Amino acid sequence: MDKILVHGGRPLSGSIKISGSKNSALPILAATLLTKETCTIRNVPDLSDVHYMLTILSELGAEVERASGTVIVKAEKIKTEAPYEIVRKMRASVCVLGPLLGREKEATVSLPGGCVIGDRPIDLHLKGFEALGAANRVQSGNVKVFASQLTGSVVNLRGKFGSTVLGTDNVMMAAVLAEGTTVIESAAAEPEVVDLANFLNAMGAKVEGAGTRRIIIEGVKELHGAEHSVIPDRIEAGTFLVAGAIAGEELTLNRVNPDHLRALIDALRTAGYEISENGESMKIKGRHAPKFLELTTEPYPGFPTDMQAQMCALLCKTAGLSVITETIFPQRFMHVSELKRMGADINLEGASAVINGRESLSGAPVMASDLRASAALVLAGLQADGITEVNRVYHIDRGYEQIDEKLNGAGAHIERVKA
Ligand code: EPU
Repeated sequence: MDKILVHGGRPLSGSIKISGSKNSALPILAATLLTKETCTIRNVPDLSDVHYMLTILSELGAEVERASGTVIVKAEKIKTEAPYEIVRKMRASVCVLGPLLGREKEATVSLPGGCVIGDRPIDLHLKGFEALGAANRVQSGNVKVFASQLTGSVVNLRGKFGSTVLGTDNVMMAAVLAEGTTVIESAAAEPEVVDLANFLNAMGAKVEGAGTRRIIIEGVKELHGAEHSVIPDRIEAGTFLVAGAIAGEELTLNRVNPDHLRALIDALRTAGYEISENGESMKIKGRHAPKFLELTTEPYPGFPTDMQAQMCALLCKTAGLSVITETIFPQRFMHVSELKRMGADINLEGASAVINGRESLSGAPVMASDLRASAALVLAGLQADGITEVNRVYHIDRGYEQIDEKLNGAGAHIERVKA
């Protein structure tokens, strides 16, 4: 297994180009299953999760071509059962359920289990499919959804922890080919949901209201091929913004949409960082000790759970007591024990991390447990004395395109040691 060695204390400057969004690309690639015609998706990041999704599409019978950031999919004839061996590697595989159900009126995938960030049920996805007239059956670890016909109706997708992103995506993808009108109440409003809706509309769907809590979908008979360019990855951008706060003399991010990062920009400005915006480019001046913060993760446009671990890493070296409360995945704190091995002073109180800022952190061997936790460890390494050895880097390669090369291009010293 590869590991990453982060040599701490190097200043960052220059610019970093942000890749296409992982969490947009995955459901958009799944949506290509909704038509027999050719779809061309641009700005697709080169990540292992994307690779898994393309393998699932091929296994389902689609022709898939990939050349640098462009993926061409033609799903003329498709099967409706996604192979367990690949599905089990990535929870987001569940988003082939909606398009398969929409097009073929049935779909089977293996039921995703829990993961290190907590329980990951799909009850809300199934509730949405049921509202469209589909039944479901769980057998031998698989979930099968099936219907003789899909009919639009009103469904509220609010769960215990708020809206569901992939649940909203899945129901939207099934409803575009349903008979009549579907209304999704308490829909997720994340930019990735809007990106998917824009792609569906480019395919001939009639989706309105994406980006608000109510999405209205008027079913159509069939969809056609379309071209689409995936939005910039706001979480990758956010991670580099925090890197800039930690170590940036002056770090510029290019090909970013600052409107998708308002909650994070606001938090960093409150902490005392200077951030300027210029169209699709942002600049941060960092390296000075920030002020402590109190943050609570919330569905978009609130502070994103996918930035919680990275903010923990930043606040470890902030004078004063910071508190980060996680309301979306209350157990998503696997990074805390690893940060403590680097000298951080963090106490977990229920779903809150109480961080007592220290003057220094020291490099240590640490274990990546999930995607954003691994990014947090790399960020902690940038501000630690000595070398931080991040093990199990495959987690980071799931969602960051060449994070080591991008940071090295801006002055960091990160080595990847091949196993
Ligand atoms: N939930 C339910 N029932 C459901 C679905 C979700 O109770 O049927 C709960 C979840 O357990 C969680 C909350 O609702 O407590 C929100 O989960 P959501 O469904 O929104 O998560 P997701 O769609 O599975 C996506 C991203 C995650 C991101 C979350 C929240 C993708 C591929 N994944 O997951 O991204 O954390 O939304 O914003 O889009 C990551 O990129 O590192 C990542 C984990």
